[in-house]
Amino acid sequence: MIALAQMAEAVLRCADGREKTALSRRYAAEWQAARAAGETPEVGRASPPLHPARPATPELLSPRDVPRRRPGTPEGRIALLHAVAHIELNAVDLHWDIVARFTDTRLPMGFYDDWVKAADEESKHFNLMADCLEEMGSHYGALPAHAGMWRAAEDTADDLMGRLAVVPMVLEARGLDVTPGMIDVFRKAKADIAVAALETIYAEEVAHVAYGSKWFHFLCGRFDEDPKERFHALVRTYFHGDLKPPFNEEKRAEAGIPPDFYWPLTGTD
Ligand SMILES: [Fe+2]
Ligand SMILES: [Fe+2]
Repeated sequence: MIALAQMAEAVLRCADGREKTALSRRYAAEWQAARAAGETPEVGRASPPLHPARPATPELLSPRDVPRRRPGTPEGRIALLHAVAHIELNAVDLHWDIVARFTDTRLPMGFYDDWVKAADEESKHFNLMADCLEEMGSHYGALPAHAGMWRAAEDTADDLMGRLAVVPMVLEARGLDVTPGMIDVFRKAKADIAVAALETIYAEEVAHVAYGSKWFHFLCGRFDEDPKERFHALVRTYFHGDLKPPFNEEKRAEAGIPPDFYWPLTGTD
């Protein structure tokens, strides 16, 4: 078994979505089997690329150039699933990147267990979305997708606490806010397979946000910092724009993010 950071780098350097997620799931299973056997496998070191490898399609466009389609149409629903597939593929890389990028920081094994599990789940999510698209006669890569999804990773490549604040605690928490509305769109269209897939995603994303909150608070404790103040400062440094209500306060609370973390960042007070 190769060291965990090298597994992470290999996933990041793999371009094809289906191959990337297969590799990700295989490595996650190896790590989890070793951990379940009571081992402490090597985390090691690697040289993760600043940008992960990406397939030739989808074409990546600036968000303002990505055509908007109405969710009331089959084309609109395909576009929605395509956008989620793109987010999930990016999330696979984000979780492996946090494993490989910060190996100079001393962290408990539980940190790695959590992000390996999250990366494995994102891989499953990408495949669920890619399956839904294929079922509807499309595929991942058929439509343009947002460029700039990796911006948060680039901006926080040297700042683990910034990474935790912006990626799981802002971006993935945003997923908790918007996914119920998306599930409704597919329920109204009686698209049962997409509903089931999105419900799986929704249920599992709570834990990813919770991992972010857990390790953010852990590091605040190590450095004797006030978590709420530090969170506000980091989001203002690394996140571009205000947070947008409405928030899913219940799921955010379940994930360990209290209202006084996000409301002051909405720009409305
Ligand atoms: Fe996901
Ligand atoms: Fe996630």
